[in-house]
Amino acid sequence: MLDLENKSILITGGTGSLGKALTKEILKNHSNVRRIIIFSRDEQKQFQMAQEFPSSVYPQLRFFIGDVRDRERLIRAFKGVDYIIHAAAMKHVPIAEYNPDECIKTNVMGAQNVIDACFETNIQRVVALSTDKACAPINLYGATKLTSDKLFIAANNIKGDNPIVFSVVRYGNVMGSNGSVIPFFIKKKGEGKLPITDVNMTRFNISLQGGVDMVMHALDNAWGGEIFIPKIPSYKITDVATAIGPDCEQEVVGIRPGEKVHEEMITPSDSFYTYDLGKYYTILPATHKWKIDDFKKKFNAVLVPQGFAYNSGDNTEWETVDTLRALIREHVDADFQS
Ligand SMILES: NC(=O)c1ccc[n+]([C@@H]2O[C@H](COP(=O)([O-])OP(=O)(O)OC[C@H]3O[C@@H](n4cnc5c(N)ncnc54)[C@H](OP(=O)(O)O)[C@@H]3O)[C@@H](O)[C@H]2O)c1
Repeated sequence: MLDLENKSILITGGTGSLGKALTKEILKNHSNVRRIIIFSRDEQKQFQMAQEFPSSVYPQLRFFIGDVRDRERLIRAFKGVDYIIHAAAMKHVPIAEYNPDECIKTNVMGAQNVIDACFETNIQRVVALSTDKACAPINLYGATKLTSDKLFIAANNIKGDNPIVFSVVRYGNVMGSNGSVIPFFIKKKGEGKLPITDVNMTRFNISLQGGVDMVMHALDNAWGGEIFIPKIPSYKITDVATAIGPDCEQEVVGIRPGEKVHEEMITPSDSFYTYDLGKYYTILPATHKWKIDDFKKKFNAVLVPQGFAYNSGDNTEWETVDTLRALIREHVDADFQS
């Protein structure tokens, strides 16, 4: 297990869904951590988080106001830090379509600023958050996250003798995260009608804890340049609507700009570099400083067949209406009644 004894860890976007869940995990299971620093812009969210995690109980927790667009601020925040988890992003597809330059500034320039700040300080390990929308992207959000992934992966090639390791974690919809479909449907079901973009639509599904586990695993095990992809189930969007509002009318409203009917995490073109490691896949970088045979041996990694794809529509594992209800009760809303 990852040893964080006396380590300092900074989470960009630490007040977000994933950032908070990571903070909880580290405080619970790694209480010997020296410091956890939450880096984000909005003082109100930091104020609220500080109430949830009071300094009298969690003296390791610190808050740092800053914007990933501000390289100098990142350098100041990264001083004395060992590990970075980069979770800050603009993540709403339609908002990114409408404000492309803003999304590029945060998701692309912000990623490069994080990398630059790592090289200006003594960071040892970096895990950057990606998304299934970065795989064969058709919307600006996905394209910026793919660019960010490429920047982090390529950063391993320019590090010289610096032992720093950069890796990426990619996954699909996080159940119940800020702005996601499940809390949206729960709020809307009182109206008796739930909007369905496309009756065939499917999505990958991961719990916040599943996301946290993959990030912690990457932080511990990355050799540099990997994209870690957990094996997770899919759901049909119509099953989510039935699970939440069985008596609601499902109104087809049409696919939104930049949306896919099915999401992808690995395309056939990635298959040449993709390894199956049991619980997850890893897309390896085309160039790396370590030996592929050592990697295969260490992780029992098996190259996937040529042409292999990992698509939410062709998944072998599925959530059903019943499993979705149970998951919503467990992960999103303990009082949930369908
Ligand atoms: N949620 C999902 O379903 C999902 C799925 C796949 C991948 N991901 C990825 O996982 C990561 C975390 O997602 P999340 O769901 O936790 O997001 P979230 O709840 O929306 O949180 C985003 C965080 O980023 C901060 N932030 C935004 N812009 C910033 C900037 N310019 N500088 C500094 N901080 C900034 C926000 O705080 P302030 O606004 O106060 O700055 C907030 O703390 C993202 O990279 C996202 O792309 C999410």
